[in-house]
Amino acid sequence: MAFPPGFLDELRSRISLAELIGRRVRLTRRGREYVGLCPFHNEKTPSFCVVEDKGFFHCFGCGAHGDAIGYQMRADNVDFVEAIERLAGLAGLPVPRSTPQERERAQRQKTLLEALEAAAVFYEKRLWSPASGPGRAGLDYLRGRGLDDETIRHFRLGWAPGPEENRDRQALRRALAGEYPEPLLLEAGLLRTSDRGGGNYDYFANRVMFPIGDRAGRVIAFGARTLGDDQPKYLNSPDTPLFEKGRVLYGWAAARANIGRPLSGNGGDPGGHGVIVTEGYMDVIALHRAGFKTAVAPLGTALTETQLQEIWRLSPEPALCFDGDGAGQRAALRALGRALPLLKPGRSLNFVALPAGEDPDSLVRGRGAASFAEALAAARPLAEILWQSELAVRPADTPERRADLKARLERRAREIADADVQREYRRALLDRYYLLSRAGGGLRGVRRDPPTADPPPPLPPGAGRTNREVFLSLLARFPALIDEWIDEVTALDIPEPELDRLRHAILEVAVSHPGLDAERFQQHLGSCGLAGVLGVLNRRVAAHSGFAAGGGDDPDVIRRGAEETLQLLRAQRPGDLEAAERAFAEDASAENWRRLIALKEREAQDGPIGGIDW
Ligand code: UTP
Ligand code: MN
Repeated sequence: MAFPPGFLDELRSRISLAELIGRRVRLTRRGREYVGLCPFHNEKTPSFCVVEDKGFFHCFGCGAHGDAIGYQMRADNVDFVEAIERLAGLAGLPVPRSTPQERERAQRQKTLLEALEAAAVFYEKRLWSPASGPGRAGLDYLRGRGLDDETIRHFRLGWAPGPEENRDRQALRRALAGEYPEPLLLEAGLLRTSDRGGGNYDYFANRVMFPIGDRAGRVIAFGARTLGDDQPKYLNSPDTPLFEKGRVLYGWAAARANIGRPLSGNGGDPGGHGVIVTEGYMDVIALHRAGFKTAVAPLGTALTETQLQEIWRLSPEPALCFDGDGAGQRAALRALGRALPLLKPGRSLNFVALPAGEDPDSLVRGRGAASFAEALAAARPLAEILWQSELAVRPADTPERRADLKARLERRAREIADADVQREYRRALLDRYYLLSRAGGGLRGVRRDPPTADPPPPLPPGAGRTNREVFLSLLARFPALIDEWIDEVTALDIPEPELDRLRHAILEVAVSHPGLDAERFQQHLGSCGLAGVLGVLNRRVAAHSGFAAGGGDDPDVIRRGAEETLQLLRAQRPGDLEAAERAFAEDASAENWRRLIALKEREAQDGPIGGIDW
């Protein structure tokens, strides 16, 4: 029975071998292993051990050896398929149904894999064997690109012989013909048929070979680079039963082995960055060599949804690297668009902008690993890129353009399928939008590449909270005032999150339902989940504020009172604070953020400024 690619890996990763075996065998922990009496032969002293993190068991007495599936087959005396069905039951995984065609395909895949492995060995041999002569060109090329022999061997790079040594382009065909039937080699993408008759010949010739591995690291295809300027620069295997370009990532198995190993002696994942996604074969290899061993790359296409899901299986916030030039930025935005609907709580992307014209390979070669580490450290979160890209569409310098920006931000947020993440995005984007609106017409376009912003820490609890409470409570009770002061409300800086939510909601309801009376207005706020906040606020304000209390329904009194409150709130925002806010809205750099926060903190320490006569 053929299981879809990845199913068995998924199954194994969900089963704890020690737990599975521990159901029938008493196991005792010994270091990183478990030992017990072998269930497969009679013994009095334990020689059976389970290596949990490697996923296999071994008996030193009878030689029994295997993984979870092998254990289940032996322990229950069932065949492979039956063992898988039982394990899947334990793991709560549905078993994909099998058909005779699938069974046949599984059989063939095994031999396809064998043929591809044989080809990889052949290409490797051809890279290393010639001490001089034509085949030497491949090895010289790779060394010339800064690869040491260890790296070349690690990635199993090879050489497909060129015309000088392989005039009839049959070298691989001849080497494998004895063991593998020709149709199989064709199906493996190792041979192709001449359109002009004359039979089959090698698919690859005169190129450096990059074996592409599946999730378990088994060779399933090749990428092949020309040494010169022929087209294509990289020739990839055609799609085969084993290889579908859009589902595979170059370097995946190695990345998985190194992920979450920030402290491992020889690097691995030094910054704990998780997966690093690059664009090409050489980038993966160069990064690996520079100590970033969690690099992967798609195969010449934009990241597919399947590939994104694969990457997220390894790390929650992988870093995507792009050339800092225009094409790189467009590629980054395409990746962003692909990822947006798929975001989940805790699951996102970071974007690394490399210096224009550089890829990770050229960067680490030209300027050293440290400069790549620097670029990585300056990675910006997806939300930041989304904001900047919408802002860069056109300057938000008129009311109409600002309204358009707001609509676009909301549309983008709606692309996110996960309700919680969507809500957070709406909030974060609208927060920044209101901050920007406050800067008003002064804002003309935004730099496309601001430096990284630190994630804004929560604002310090602000001074003058009571003034803010009074003002918001008045707005909620006298919605007619909102139109008059819409800019002020928009510009109002409210450090308390629950009050700021109320401010947002007040703006939303006022804009979406103009002309409501107080009661209906408050009902709408209530349906935004703000009834509680509003109730507390109204009681506090009614109980304490002179002009707003009791029968304070006289519009003139209310308006004057609100105006005074507003004055006080304005007085709390000295000019330099405004300037700092404008600067941050225009360019969300870490430096601007620190300046803004420093001013806010100073304001908070100064204590409440003035106040209403409570
Ligand atoms: P690039 O053209 O950016 O090349 O292609 P590169 O990775 O920097 O390669 P080097 O450094 O010149 O050797 C990026 C990736 O796109 C795919 C390959 O996977 C390549 O690594 N590609 C590129 C192809 O599949 N075919 C091509 O003809 C070119
Ligand atoms: Mn390159």
